[in-house]
Formats: sequence, C-alpha cells, structure tokens
Amino acid sequence: MARAGAGFKAVLRRRALLAGAAALAASPAAAAPERFPEGFLWGVAASAPQTEGAAGRGLSIWDVFAARPGAIRDGSNPSVGTGFETFYPEDLDLTAGAGLRAFRFSIAWPRVQPQGAGAMNEPGLALYDRIVDAMLARGIRPFATLFHWDLPAALRGGWLDRDTAYRLADYAAIVGRRLGDRVRDFMVLNEPGVVAILGHALGRHAPGLASRTAWAAAMHHQNLAQGLGAAALRSVLPAGARIGAALSLQPCRPAAPGAEEAARIWDDAWNRAYLDPLFGRPYPARFAADLAPLLRAEDMRRIAARPDFLGVNYYSRMHMVPAPGSVLGATWGAAPPGTPMTALDWPVEPDGLLEQLRDLRDAYGNPEVFITENGAAYTDPPAQGGVIADPDRIGFLRAHLGQAARACAEGCRLRGYFTWTLTDNFEWAEGFVPKFGLVAVDRRTLRRTPKQSLAWLGGCARGNVVT
Ligand code: FCB
Repeated sequence: MARAGAGFKAVLRRRALLAGAAALAASPAAAAPERFPEGFLWGVAASAPQTEGAAGRGLSIWDVFAARPGAIRDGSNPSVGTGFETFYPEDLDLTAGAGLRAFRFSIAWPRVQPQGAGAMNEPGLALYDRIVDAMLARGIRPFATLFHWDLPAALRGGWLDRDTAYRLADYAAIVGRRLGDRVRDFMVLNEPGVVAILGHALGRHAPGLASRTAWAAAMHHQNLAQGLGAAALRSVLPAGARIGAALSLQPCRPAAPGAEEAARIWDDAWNRAYLDPLFGRPYPARFAADLAPLLRAEDMRRIAARPDFLGVNYYSRMHMVPAPGSVLGATWGAAPPGTPMTALDWPVEPDGLLEQLRDLRDAYGNPEVFITENGAAYTDPPAQGGVIADPDRIGFLRAHLGQAARACAEGCRLRGYFTWTLTDNFEWAEGFVPKFGLVAVDRRTLRRTPKQSLAWLGGCARGNVVT
C-alpha cells in the first residue's frame, strides 16, 4: 500500500533483501522451536476487493479510483482479482490441505447492496453462502470482515457523510441475519486508519482525497460505523457470536533526532484515534478542533462497544519525520540503518509485533487478540517442479511467529495468527506487482502454484509450533 513513502534505489533494495535473509536465518526463533498455547488458531487472511472479480456486483470506490490514470502502479484494477468467486473451492482445498483451519475473508458491500443502501442483491449474498459452506465443509473456521475498503460508489458522500455509518449498520444487519447461523466471528471494519490517512489525507488510495477535513470526517464516521455496525450485528446474531475490529497497529518511532513529536502525531493519527475510542477513551487531545464539528452526543458511547476480540494487522514499525505544511504534519522517514526490507521497502521488524502486543496487554486491559494480518511481499523465483521457493517469506513469518509465541508466554491473550495472504492478489495502489501470497496466481490463466511457505506454515499449524 505504499505506506513506506519515498522508494529506495533498486540496488539498496537488493542489498537489504540479502541482509534481511541472513538476519532472519540467524534469529533465535530459527534455533529454538516456540510452542503456542493449546487451541491457538492458524489461518490465512484475504479480502473481497483484492481477490473477487467484479461481475455481479455494484461499483466500489476502488473501481472508480483505479480508472484514474496513474492511480495504480501497473495500470491494473480490481475487475478480475484472483477469480476467488470461481476458484474458492481450490483455494480452500489448499488452505485445509496445508493444515490451516481458519480463513479471514471479506464480504463485498457493493455485491450485497449494489447501491450501498436499500435493495439487497440475492445472488450476491448467495455467493457468501456458498463460500462459508465450503469453508465449514473443510473444517475451516470463517472470520468475516464486513468492510475491507470497497465502499459502494453509489454512496456519493462516502465517509465524508455521517449517513454512511448508518448505511453500514443496515448492511451489517443484512449480512448478520444471513450468515450468523454459520459464521461466529465477525469484524466490522478493516483498518479504518489506513482508509482515513491514505484515502483522505494523502490521496494515495480511494477515494483519492487529501485534506484535513476529509481525513477527520473519514476517521470519525468510520469509528461511528464500527460502533453502529457492531450494535446492528449484535441485535441479529445468535448468542455466542463474536464481534471485533481489525486495526492496522504499528508502533511509531522518530526517524531522526528531533522527530519525537512527528512520531507522537503519527501514533495518535494511525493507532490511538481508533484504539482509544473503541476501548472507551476520548480521542487523542490534539485532534479536538478537527473533531468538534463532527462529534454529536452519544457518538463516543456508541463507538465504545468493547470488542469481543481485537484484530491486529501488523507489518512493521513506522519511522517518522516532521512534514510541516502537510495534512498531518508528519511523514515516513527511513528505518534505522541495517534494517532489512521487504520488496515493498517495508522494514522487517518482528520485535515491533511484540511491542504492539505488550501495549495492548498493558495499556488496554489485555483484550483477546488475533493477529489478523501479517506477511510480506518478496520477489519470488519461477516455479521449479511445481513449487516456488520463497525462503525470505518463510524467514519473515518465522521471525514474527517467534515474537507471537513470546507474547503468549508473557501473558498476552493472543488467540491466533492469520497470514496475509493465501494468494498473490490486487495490492491496492501497487496493483498486482507485490507478491504477498503463500500461493502464486498466473495473471492470465489464474492457475494457482503453491510456494514453499504454504507447506511450511501448515507444518507449524499442525504442530502448533514455530519450526
Ligand atoms: C493491509 C491491508 C490488506 C493488504 C495488506 C498488505 O494494510 O489490510 O488488504 O493490502 O495491507
């Protein structure tokens, strides 16, 4: 998602990749297997707009955004994805065959309600019946996200409009009524902070806006949608259903001397503006003036529906520098010298995951947590003998799982780990260039080829241990 900011030169990138592989191979987790508590859940995560084709659904803001010249790095769009709507039986066979027992997927709001409101599209909902049934038939526990960024384009005001939060609650009730007899675990929103910042403050993601007022509205209206959506789900789901949120949580650090305030600004804007209201606290004080025109009585109480579980999407820390005159006043700087990088120039910092999990334990009352996304883009070699060797990805996952195991041992209530992602897919503004999958997908034929990381992760899942 181009969150690391300014790109590095290719030669630096190659050097970093080599250094990264060496550092990860030598990590303590590689030497000493780490066990997870009994019942720990192992799965993969994906989303509708990144994997489903567009046939049979209404337009989303990502279709509109991708049509802008230059918006998507390789000129692609979300019209084909990985063909998940057709290939899901094969994808679920690969998942279950490897020994992974949970699948985080998302439901496309524009498929369920092509206009974003009012009439629902029966064939659209029926697709999710089939997908969920296919998961259950294979012993896979479905985790459903209701909103993974594909806002119906027909909702003209988008997240600028408070009404969108109420429309999301209506949609949540439709989905809950339909799937609640088979899906137990729901997340209302995925990464509202990324939608607000990349989509409304920086213009790099749909809907491509870049203003402080747009950012503040997107932040608050999504938080409200999380609260209203959770309440709507709760009112239609059977007892025992579990409702959460998936947040992008990345510890923030100054990238240079004197950048401490930049790191604090970013921590407030990226992390705390979502975590704090969800857990019953006020918004970060520095945003009071931005929020004053948006906040209405009862909003904070509605948002503060303490989740049954928190989904943590962790990729790296963020290293910040001041950016005077920019919408938020801070921007991404360089990670400390020597930090390994992925192919997207995201720093590889497994210990940042432990830092994040400890913060949730110590500062937010130790909620039940799933890591709902963690993974890495690397440049994979061509298949040999039907399999793709991806040692860098295995090294990345191993190092992060090692930190996750440590968090469990330290008393964090971490209950499971979902790798981002099963198949290489549409990586937003980066198009199909970054390869995050455990399985490669031929762009022409949509044929799937597993990478070694799939079998490796499955082995960990079977033994409930990092190998
Ligand atoms: C996360 C998104 C997910 C995917 C990964 C790489 O921020 O939630 O859809 O793009 O990044």
